[in-house]
Amino acid sequence: MQKIRTAIVGTGFMGKVHAENVRRLGNVEIAAVVGSRPETARKFAENTGIPIATDKLQDVLDNREIAAVHICTPNVDHFPMSLAAVNAGKAVLCEKPMTMDVEQARRLVDAAKARDVVNCVQHNLRYYPVVQQIRQMIAHGDLGDILIVQGTYSQDWLLYDTDWNWRLDSKSNGKLRVMGDIGSHWMDMIQYLTGSNITALCADLATFHKTRKRPKGSVETFSGKKLQPGEYEEFPIDTEDFGMVMLRLGDRARGAFTVSQMSAGRKNKFEFEIFGTKSGVSWNQETPDLLWIGHRNEPNQIVVKDASLFYPQAAGFADLPGGHSEGYDDSHKQVFKHFYARVADRSVPIDYPTFEDGLHGMILLAKVAESAAKRGWVEVD
Ligand SMILES: NC(=O)c1ccc[n+]([C@@H]2O[C@H](COP(=O)([O-])OP(=O)(O)OC[C@H]3O[C@@H](n4cnc5c(N)ncnc54)[C@H](O)[C@@H]3O)[C@@H](O)[C@H]2O)c1
Repeated sequence: MQKIRTAIVGTGFMGKVHAENVRRLGNVEIAAVVGSRPETARKFAENTGIPIATDKLQDVLDNREIAAVHICTPNVDHFPMSLAAVNAGKAVLCEKPMTMDVEQARRLVDAAKARDVVNCVQHNLRYYPVVQQIRQMIAHGDLGDILIVQGTYSQDWLLYDTDWNWRLDSKSNGKLRVMGDIGSHWMDMIQYLTGSNITALCADLATFHKTRKRPKGSVETFSGKKLQPGEYEEFPIDTEDFGMVMLRLGDRARGAFTVSQMSAGRKNKFEFEIFGTKSGVSWNQETPDLLWIGHRNEPNQIVVKDASLFYPQAAGFADLPGGHSEGYDDSHKQVFKHFYARVADRSVPIDYPTFEDGLHGMILLAKVAESAAKRGWVEVD
């Protein structure tokens, strides 16, 4: 079998996660890695056994043997890199949030259509087996009509003003930080699961640290490193540390969620609860194999992931037997599996988030910003 050759762009947290998990597929090989500097690319390539290391995306785009690219760089690079890759005819898998604004997202969607390339935005959190089961439960009517959605995406890695990451600089990140970084996942998830769009929202955003201490050197994502005086400079912050959104979903359901990167002790608590006219469900990414099902007139259930007990459409997203954990890495692998199935064969149905989903996410983020600025409800077309 001829393997599909791909390239990883970005050598940080996501570059590593993508490289490790795309290799689990069997039909894909990583031909090249692109770093921000020749040394970082070379080091990554040496550690992971990737043949080509470069600091120039163009080297990858000019390589006719490379069919696909993974864009795992800071947000500001997503649009120019994805657009260049699309125009070079490559299949593109871009990290979220897809772009810096709606206009860029529209241009990317149009370009991908015009060049007819396979395209994906990495909303991997949809692909935990339990999440897939919840989707099928809702589709099969187990919950009844959806009435209420609520939850949070809470982390603590930016609690101190000495915590630093490129996301704190809006020039690299975009105007919304916590909403863009993790709120984008929450909104994508709730719409994906219920099959309904957010139709109106009212947002409030808070920046607790008006300035932060930017290190004079570079800091890895999630490193938790504490800076010493002399190692940093004061940096004004113009993106939010915390956000909350009330929302309307479809024509009936109501909901609310919070997002935070300053909630001490919450490492990666992505939680949602969905309540319908018959029953409710709850899921928390920190315990991804557990599904809570709530009932009114009988005891509640806690189900441990077991594909043999799931709807067949959900079972296909579990690759291990019941009780054997499938977590964050696996969610990425599931997206890659479906993305590359389509790269290999264009007749395979699209079963992964596309640039259209990325555009929809950017529209919602723009509405969050608009609502927070005017301190009121906004409609979403
Ligand atoms: N889907 C998810 O669950 C998830 C999780 C974390 C991050 N992300 C997204 O992934 C992206 C990267 O985030 P991260 O946490 O990996 O950041 P990171 O800082 O750990 O890594 C970013 C990497 O990009 C490299 N880079 C910067 N400019 C570059 C350029 N011009 N060419 C090549 N490489 C360049 C940096 O050197 C760094 O190695 C972000 O858009 C983020 O929102 C997604």
